[in-house]
Amino acid sequence: MTRRRAAVVGGGHTRFGVLPEGPRTLLRLAVDRAVESVDRGLDRAEIGEAYLGTLGFSGWQLGNVSAVLAEEARTPGIPVTRVENACASAGFALRAGVRTIESGARDLVLVAGLEKMNDSPSTRRRYWLGVSGDTEWERLAGLTFAGVYGLMASAYLAEHGTPREALAAVAVKNHAHGALNPNAQFQKPITIEQALASPMVADPLRLYDCCPVTDGAAAVLLAGEDVARRFTDTPVFVAGDGAGSDALALQDRESMTRLAATRRAADEAFRRSGFDRDSIDFLEVHDCFTIAELLALEDLGFAAPGRSGALELSGATRLGGERPVNPDGGLKAKGHPIGATGASQTYEAFVQLRGQAGRRQVPGAERALTHNVGGSGATATVTLFGV
Ligand code: COA
Repeated sequence: MTRRRAAVVGGGHTRFGVLPEGPRTLLRLAVDRAVESVDRGLDRAEIGEAYLGTLGFSGWQLGNVSAVLAEEARTPGIPVTRVENACASAGFALRAGVRTIESGARDLVLVAGLEKMNDSPSTRRRYWLGVSGDTEWERLAGLTFAGVYGLMASAYLAEHGTPREALAAVAVKNHAHGALNPNAQFQKPITIEQALASPMVADPLRLYDCCPVTDGAAAVLLAGEDVARRFTDTPVFVAGDGAGSDALALQDRESMTRLAATRRAADEAFRRSGFDRDSIDFLEVHDCFTIAELLALEDLGFAAPGRSGALELSGATRLGGERPVNPDGGLKAKGHPIGATGASQTYEAFVQLRGQAGRRQVPGAERALTHNVGGSGATATVTLFGV
């Protein structure tokens, strides 16, 4: 049976960074911009359902925040479901939205992602930065998220003999891309020397190996392929998606240097789409720490184990390179408002594949992959887009 494909017909994005706006305003801005971006206009009354990805950082609205999305989107009465899968919340919200379109249950669905992280005191922030890891062993041992990824980075560098510069190359590239993105938290390029000399956070990860703490929201509008051209001549199709999970704690995983959830999600997405890896023009991968980008390229099947460092150092992943990775600056430079990241990646696929990404445009891009990870790899989604 051929399935009804979902298409992205609109996308909106707030600035990412340390922002004065509260969560309600951020949601409203992202949704308003998504609605305004629809080429032929859209009556909000046609939106049949919505999904919201958010962690609820620092306890803002611990439950039922879905109602806030319906209020701020000015779509009263529609069913809204909050999805919480840590940093992969919006990736999984997108997946739910795609299934809703594919099933024929609705013609038009809103998927939003939100996080407000900078309005709480630093002790509370530190607590909330760790809530998506294992609480019994990792947190009691004092591990922060940077600490967990620091362990993965140490294991990776030791296992493959990868030079430390490979991590710094990821930071330098993503800061260079962020400098071209007006929504990015950091819009200034850095040098490899600055990256290597920045303050230590969790050995071997330094400041420039870490994503920042970010406020922001993003939203996309999905339509069934049979109705998409009522909204635009240039819809961006969801060609296939996949998702997976793994043990929550690092010590319970089969490997510290491979993410099984990502591998499973990628295999499913490629199988469902019929795309092959060579046809992908650019990737948006979950680089919450520089090591995460190296692991992602390997688990997604774009580099053999231990080879992604060489790929980064070769320049192939830069804008202008063979296959750019994170042209929007990635989590590293664009910022990582936890629940919003998956929606922001979808927004990037939408604007890039329509040739609307401005100075960071990947020339002629027709196919894109987005990859969203929860926690230190316990959940993951992969989505493939095409025009
Ligand atoms: N990359 C580059 N610069 C950063 C940065 C980052 N990740 N984080 C902060 N900065 C800059 C700030 O802009 C500021 O610059 P300025 O002095 O020019 O204004 C300076 O560093 C100090 O900022 P501050 O907010 O005081 O830093 P911090 O020491 O409190 O926090 C980290 C730095 C790395 C600890 C923090 O960003 C962090 O915890 N990141 C990881 C977030 C995370 O775990 N998310 C979940 C992932 S799964």
